Amino acid sequence: MSESGEAEGKTLLGIPRRQLLGWLSRGFLSLWGIGFAWVTLAFLKPPRSRQSLGERVIKVGPLESIPVGQARLVRHGREPIFVVRTDEQTVVGLSGVCTHLHCVLDLNAEQRQLACPCHEGAFDLNGNVLKGPPPRPLVRYQVQTQLGQVYLHF
Ligand code: FES
Repeated sequence: MSESGEAEGKTLLGIPRRQLLGWLSRGFLSLWGIGFAWVTLAFLKPPRSRQSLGERVIKVGPLESIPVGQARLVRHGREPIFVVRTDEQTVVGLSGVCTHLHCVLDLNAEQRQLACPCHEGAFDLNGNVLKGPPPRPLVRYQVQTQLGQVYLHF
């Protein structure tokens, strides 16, 4: 045998080593390209809308369990939400986070207020600013009462 035949190098399948390495290189590059395209498309795809997510309704409980002028604090993830019964028929959902510096509010049922414990900001039970530094009303959430049960929508 000549030395040039051994230098050319054949694999077990009889394919020249150089040709086999070319095929493997193209194969790996193709897989890398598919992976890159997959990640790029996943990045560019818009997120699902809030409406399309099924977990966006929380059952708060029976309407009768929330006395008029009181609230039930519901947590959704990290966000506290007050479900406030403002009168016999009306229940509102209000963010429990102040619009000023994002302190978590306390319910003051006697004064019918949601108050910041840090900066003397206060909101009425409809989320409107009563006093202090908050620049805007509280974020409101839709509340539904059905068959005596209260549901909070996101
Ligand atoms: S964070 Fe709003 S008044 Fe304190």
